[in-house]
Amino acid sequence: MKKTISLSKLKPGMKVVGIDKSWLETPFLSHHFVIRSEKDIDKLRDSGVQLVTVEVDDLTIEQRPSEEPRDEPHGLQELPAEDSGNDRTILSLQKETTRLLTRAFQQVRINGFLPTDEIRSHVRQTVDFLLHNRHAISLLADIHENDDETYVHSANTMFMAAAFAIRHQMEDAECFRWALAALLHDVGKTRIPEHILKKPGPLDLLEWEVMHQHPIYGFQILRKSPDPEIHGLAAQVAVEHHERLNGSGYPHHLGLDAVHPVSRSLMVLDIYEALTGHRVYRARSSPRKVIHYLMNDYSDRVSVPVILELASMVGIFPVGTFVENEDGEILMIQKYEDAENYRGEMTVLKIFGPGKKILPRPQKRKIPNLDPTTILRTYDYRAVGLTQEQWEYLMGGGAPGIT
Ligand SMILES: [Fe+2]
Ligand SMILES: [Fe+2]
Repeated sequence: MKKTISLSKLKPGMKVVGIDKSWLETPFLSHHFVIRSEKDIDKLRDSGVQLVTVEVDDLTIEQRPSEEPRDEPHGLQELPAEDSGNDRTILSLQKETTRLLTRAFQQVRINGFLPTDEIRSHVRQTVDFLLHNRHAISLLADIHENDDETYVHSANTMFMAAAFAIRHQMEDAECFRWALAALLHDVGKTRIPEHILKKPGPLDLLEWEVMHQHPIYGFQILRKSPDPEIHGLAAQVAVEHHERLNGSGYPHHLGLDAVHPVSRSLMVLDIYEALTGHRVYRARSSPRKVIHYLMNDYSDRVSVPVILELASMVGIFPVGTFVENEDGEILMIQKYEDAENYRGEMTVLKIFGPGKKILPRPQKRKIPNLDPTTILRTYDYRAVGLTQEQWEYLMGGGAPGIT
């Protein structure tokens, strides 16, 4: 397994398989070597290396205290293909994607142009794979074995965007457009210096200023493409994916209503992927914690219905969500035994019966858990015709007669 670590964690005996400098800038002729002594580490430090990718077994590097346990059910796992007619899996596709992106982003750095045909053909194959392997829709690719997080992040965001579009029963061509835009949303990072992109700690103000330019750079790069979908939707999503509600985002401080619906959804998938994935500057968080964070601390900046749709895609149902089960009943999640992690016995309110007929009085039930495969759709309170006051009352434990 490969892991990217800061130089301070490098120890003699570790096998290095990558560093954040060209081999021309270090005394090592190859980036694959074993650290024989502290002197090797000193040489790397003298060359300005900050990050190294090493091959490790799980015990080689101590776990960060805040890192989630490895058995956290986060939906990141490799599944066998169902009927794709080949031996592709989500994980192998993801590796292909990161390899393609490495080459593509390098080309952008060198000559400013993307290898459009190659990218289109790969995105087409990915969407086809997901369309023919529906069980993979709720899963995300495992990101731990890769060593360049921008590529891995872009690849995973593409998988999630394609899955999101497929779940919404969009036309194939539309799923393709979502996936393509997601894959390229951070291409502007090719113009951000590596020492900022890969900084192991928090960025300072000046560094943030540089980082905040990447949506504009992405737009400029993608607008040059002759491909209508790349210089159209993908370029728009690249410049809009960091905009937020009421203009609190960047670079143009647009409100959510002013951005493309794909940007509105992608910004949530983007945050979710970034927080659940491992990053050099912090440990990864569990999907439950991230959904909890999005619902409770970030819902004033992005679209709540999109958070709920994402949550149901990864099999998590936050408090206040309305779920429609296979019997056509609509239940509101009112409480979890373990409120912060959305776990344990849950209290639900049945508000609509079969055929979406509103009940004279909501019925309270306690259930041990909710099987995500039995949930057809999720809604927020507006979509089921409740007012905010009614919804808040229900969430606070009440159960008024809603007629
Ligand atoms: Fe971004
Ligand atoms: Fe991103």
